[in-house]
Amino acid sequence: MIKNIGVNDREIKLFEGQYKVNNGMCYNSYAIIDDKIAIMDTVDYAFKEEWLNNLENVLNGRFPDYLIIQHTECDHSGSIEYFFSKYPNACLVANKQTKQMILNFFPELQINNYLEIKEGSLLELGNETLQFISAPFVHWPEVMMTYAITSKALFTADGFGKFGTSDADEGWIDEARRYYIGIVGKYGKYVQNVLKKASNLEINTIYPLHGPVLNENLGYYLNLYDVWSKYDYEEDGVLIAYSSVYGNTKNACLYLEEKLKELNVKTVCFDLSVSDIHEVISLAFKYSKLVLGTITYNGGIFPHMNTFIDGLVEREYQKRKVGVIENGSWAPVSYKVISEKLSHLSDVEVVGSVKIKSSMTELNKTELEELAKTLA
Ligand code: FEO
Repeated sequence: MIKNIGVNDREIKLFEGQYKVNNGMCYNSYAIIDDKIAIMDTVDYAFKEEWLNNLENVLNGRFPDYLIIQHTECDHSGSIEYFFSKYPNACLVANKQTKQMILNFFPELQINNYLEIKEGSLLELGNETLQFISAPFVHWPEVMMTYAITSKALFTADGFGKFGTSDADEGWIDEARRYYIGIVGKYGKYVQNVLKKASNLEINTIYPLHGPVLNENLGYYLNLYDVWSKYDYEEDGVLIAYSSVYGNTKNACLYLEEKLKELNVKTVCFDLSVSDIHEVISLAFKYSKLVLGTITYNGGIFPHMNTFIDGLVEREYQKRKVGVIENGSWAPVSYKVISEKLSHLSDVEVVGSVKIKSSMTELNKTELEELAKTLA
């Protein structure tokens, strides 16, 4: 029997100090109740008492035999010391690197019993047997996933997680994409490695450490992870992201948006100064094409655009066509700066650009119409 003993964090504003979580966050933890009892990960330290109460409510007076740590990041390992202060004889189940990382975070921790696991290790609980799967760099190096053979359940650590509490009134995909691209996006090839391993398993249920348990239509979720980790696009369309101070670059971007829509091209447009930058980054991965419009600023590009492009580069943005709208009143350099930044990416091609000197001219309109046709 698998019980979710996780908690909801309704106070958090920024996950990992940077991702806005307007609907909070959940930290899942699971109790596998059998002849032996295994606990799968802990929760953030701030919720240690609520979590242990949840645990005690499913133990029926018994004691946990194992604490399995799949991932050492503190949103999951934060309550390890508290757990062992209550259950000092429980056995820590973790790979060698995880154990060392736990001791790095909690140097005072006394571990009385330890079972070292690695790829393919088995842990028999009675009716259930757990098989451990190495998942390095999804998104930390020590990460393990766990397959419950009898239940056909895959515990996926951060994989298949999303932002939001467990009862957030929102769909899965947008917040799961924003979570994946933000936190795991850089590590696509490692996700591909794990997906290959998962393809050999019969899976009825996915138990992530964030977000809902997934038990229907699993092909949908697995396919999205395949698309995201291969850096393919979900939808043919253009995302326009711009930085504008007095509205002239904005006007050019809105003109391009209008022309693309006239050509029946799906187009979404974002002002980076007032948008959630991580949402726009995740949506850039959703669509097949991207347009970057920015003023020249301090001999470079506007700070929000800088952050946006760096966010794409950090996450290995690739396989996309890009258009550039460069603005500069006396020494425009935004095209040059953007081109240099994008040159480090794989298979990202600048297919057209328009140079504006302060405000859009009739010639610029014609050039934007041509850019729209190129992108279409
Ligand atoms: Fe949910 Fe990488 O911690």
